[in-house]
Amino acid sequence: MNFLSTGHFSPNELTGLIESAIRYKKGNTGRPLEGESFALVFFNPSLRTRASMQVGIYELGGNAVILEPGSTSWTLEHREGVVMAGNKTEHLKEFVGVLERYVSAIGVRTFADLKDWEAERTDPIMNAFAKFASVPVINLESAMHHPCQSMADMMTIREKCGPTKQNVLLTWAWHPKPLPMAVPNSFALAAAQFGHDIRIAHPPGYELDEDLIREAAHYAAESGGNLEITHDLEAAYKGVDVVYAKSWGGKKFYGDPDADIAHRRQFRDRWIVDEGKMSLTNDAIFMHCLPVRRNVIVTDEVIDGQRSVVIDEAENRLHIQKAILTELFK
Ligand code: CP
Repeated sequence: MNFLSTGHFSPNELTGLIESAIRYKKGNTGRPLEGESFALVFFNPSLRTRASMQVGIYELGGNAVILEPGSTSWTLEHREGVVMAGNKTEHLKEFVGVLERYVSAIGVRTFADLKDWEAERTDPIMNAFAKFASVPVINLESAMHHPCQSMADMMTIREKCGPTKQNVLLTWAWHPKPLPMAVPNSFALAAAQFGHDIRIAHPPGYELDEDLIREAAHYAAESGGNLEITHDLEAAYKGVDVVYAKSWGGKKFYGDPDADIAHRRQFRDRWIVDEGKMSLTNDAIFMHCLPVRRNVIVTDEVIDGQRSVVIDEAENRLHIQKAILTELFK
């Protein structure tokens, strides 16, 4: 069993993971991974994911091996049938085949390159790992999904607001350069699966993937929630219990970052989370996956304020990932 998207699990299974994570947070000291080793493959930088996975595996009795293709391990080719005469040294088939002789699961982080939307939306590298591996593969953030993050987000909402459905705003924010969409995608999916009423606010040009929105709307309908998309920034904040900020790149600008940067310039200063907008909410908590650029995405006053839960949200990565690892090794 892999953990690639919350969409592969039922709301009951996801709720079970959060309940297990709450037990870990309260001090469950079980060591279900005793004697097992795990590979954590990072194609991109990380603080939270890397540290929380490494610490979590250790605390569950296991051992983590960190690999960084192109840096501390060989550059990797994932496409099949190619002539490897370029700058890629090893094929994913051998990489995975060798690793799984040593480890019991493989966690992978592989961001979108923001170059080719049609190719990247299919998560080619993550899916190549899933195809070639016979051990579980855990998505530590791919081009399209960051399910460990969204599960920590759902745990945090439950912890701060209670187990009932909430009014949740996912808002785009201005950032000097285009960023991947994995976090907003996974947040929208998971919020819909948990039955929250989710409102997604973004300026024209920053639409999320149509199939993903259809999937989220389907989950919202199944779970008694609602999904709404708006360009009206101020109206979006009215009455919400949760404000989740994230910047992402426009899919029509993939391959042309300068065009995206030029387009987004008009939204600077307006698409920021500040106290004025937060005052329109139902005393909402403020969430962000981190890392965050202060006074670009969110003002100091909001992120340092009493309703900011960003550090608890990051802590919950540790607990939810322990629950996910435990479930995969039941
Ligand atoms: N939120 C998150 O995934 O953080 P890192 O990129 O630091 O792992």
